[in-house]
Amino acid sequence: MISINGKTRTCGLVGNPVEHTLSPMIHNTLASLQDHNLVYIPFLVEKEKLIEAIKGAFGLNILGMNVTIPYKSDIIPLLCEIDELAENIGAVNTLVRMEDGFKGYNTDMLGLLRAMNTEGILLKGEDIIILGAGGAARAVAFLCASNGAHRIFLLNRTLEKAEQVANEVNHCFHTSSIVPMKMSDHHLLPDKHYLAIQGTSVGLSPNISEAPIEDKSFYKKIHTGYDLIYNPVKTKFMSNVEQGGGRAFNGLKMLLYQGVIAYELWNQVSISESQAEYVYIQMMKEIEKKINE
Ligand code: ATR
Repeated sequence: MISINGKTRTCGLVGNPVEHTLSPMIHNTLASLQDHNLVYIPFLVEKEKLIEAIKGAFGLNILGMNVTIPYKSDIIPLLCEIDELAENIGAVNTLVRMEDGFKGYNTDMLGLLRAMNTEGILLKGEDIIILGAGGAARAVAFLCASNGAHRIFLLNRTLEKAEQVANEVNHCFHTSSIVPMKMSDHHLLPDKHYLAIQGTSVGLSPNISEAPIEDKSFYKKIHTGYDLIYNPVKTKFMSNVEQGGGRAFNGLKMLLYQGVIAYELWNQVSISESQAEYVYIQMMKEIEKKINE
């Protein structure tokens, strides 16, 4: 536990609500592992106070901020600079202090990429299936396209939304690698082995017995399944992937690495794999505690 003194630096989270966040635990644990004199605090900010909050944070010499629901897009006009991936996605979850204001990044997606890389999964040249076309799945589509995926099938219950996202991403990267499909047409997918990223809200607690697709023949095509959901820690989608013979992961490592990358950006340090692993174990304990509450 650090003792707060005249040299303590402050980071924090801006959102509404912020009560259930794991970010203070992630960052305060990282600060203690790094022996940094830094505290991380959640800030509940009302919509009409967002501009004041960000100006105030800069004026108060806050080192860095995370931004969560519902401000990930609203924050963009308030930045002095924005990272290219975050700009393309149109969502920012990390602010890094610069001379004239805050620079915005999307470490949610950089975190997903690092989580996959640590498991030996590279996006370059991969055939990928993305399930969903909402905010999360759309961001994943930008991530996959910007990292040189070979072909990306974007499957959504509502075809029009999949088409809209595919058009946007293809236009942005001057490619046609994103192919929109209706979810129920999954049997039309070419017979290949895919990395599948589950970005719908189906299966989220309390609806833990649901998956966006049940058909066993679909899961035979999946060598690795990534669910962005981490509550429950094992989703029905993950069980289906494993029953089809593939490896399955939940969204907890993405959450871990979005924090790790933000911390690295704020402090210009590298967090080692063993330190990240330590934080991950603390996150699991915290989640178990919450489940038993
Ligand atoms: P987020 O911001 O978390 O991505 P969202 O933008 O509301 O949330 O997107 C939710 C996604 O889950 C959408 O892709 C939605 O499909 P539709 O575009 O057809 O609505 C998908 N989804 C939600 N409930 C679903 C269900 N019962 N079956 C299939 N897809 C579902």
